[in-house]
Amino acid sequence: NKFTPAKPAGARSVDEITGSRRLRRMRKADWSRRLVQENRLSVDDLIWPIFIIDGENRKEAIPAMPGVFRMSVDLAVKEAERAAKLGIPALATFPNVEMGLRDQTGAHILEPDNIINRATRAIKAAVPEIGIITDVALDPFTSHGHDGILRDGIIVNDETVAQVAAAAVLQAAAGSDIIAPSDMMDGRIGAIRDALDDNGFHDVAIMSYATKFASAFYGPYREAIGTQGLLKGDKKTYYIDHANSDEAVREAEQDLAEGADMLMVKPGLPYLDIIRRLKDEFRVPTFAYQVSGEYSMIKAAGANGWIDGEKAMLESLLAFKRAGCDGILTYFAPEVAQILKG
Ligand code: PBG
Repeated sequence: NKFTPAKPAGARSVDEITGSRRLRRMRKADWSRRLVQENRLSVDDLIWPIFIIDGENRKEAIPAMPGVFRMSVDLAVKEAERAAKLGIPALATFPNVEMGLRDQTGAHILEPDNIINRATRAIKAAVPEIGIITDVALDPFTSHGHDGILRDGIIVNDETVAQVAAAAVLQAAAGSDIIAPSDMMDGRIGAIRDALDDNGFHDVAIMSYATKFASAFYGPYREAIGTQGLLKGDKKTYYIDHANSDEAVREAEQDLAEGADMLMVKPGLPYLDIIRRLKDEFRVPTFAYQVSGEYSMIKAAGANGWIDGEKAMLESLLAFKRAGCDGILTYFAPEVAQILKG
């Protein structure tokens, strides 16, 4: 009483069904797959985010991000040299600021000699050929871990914008090539552009974290910069609701109108739809930030043997290219660059 499906008398052959269009023809061999490959990942697509700490010859592991370290400026310079040799075009720097230097308003961001500006100067002096992207958000500098000035439970927009714009000028003066504001305050791009231009930094570009979503994927980063234990509440009054897509387009449109040179989508992999929408809509240089949680998931599953970590890493990065990205901020940058080098 086994069920045998009947083959109807007039059943069509596969060639009749497909009209002889067989997509497997071009997949049959490695050479033909390579020939028809639409997107490619290159070392030129990579931006490497690194974490900077005070001190000398200091390197600290970040438990939630296996293989990623906080480094003192001297070691960051060595890593910048290595990155340049690998052909990585740019670094994005993030500070872990001493707790004693953090306060309610994040005033230390306005110190010309803070760790981030010192790192920029040192890297630029030693490795002038590598691009430096600096984040101007206040969160590494505030005692509450928010990206803005906190007053009576509210992140105050306009004061934060003024401070971020002033900090951007200091970062440019230190040698930053691209200012990347990640705070999502309204009006920050225009204010930063004005401040840069007023101070003669016409050639310093702005990469807007235009569509930054309120996300659970930033967890390991907060451990890396030491905001994990500080942050009270969430960032939903300034980051985009991750349920929204039209709103992301409006944010990007606004930032471009204010003077952004390039857009970023963050997090990355769960937001490929946003990348594609922005690229189709605006046709400007578009980047994704494959954030800490995405990195850690791939690393953890790889380390457990649940997935092939290296293949998953490469697949995730190529997916960004397919979605329309011109480049990717990724903690995998040196590892990938090494693989791509062969
Ligand atoms: C905040 C900022 C965040 C990241 C970089 N800058 C998010 C946050 O802590 O809320 C996340 C980067 C990552 O997760 O890799 N200005």
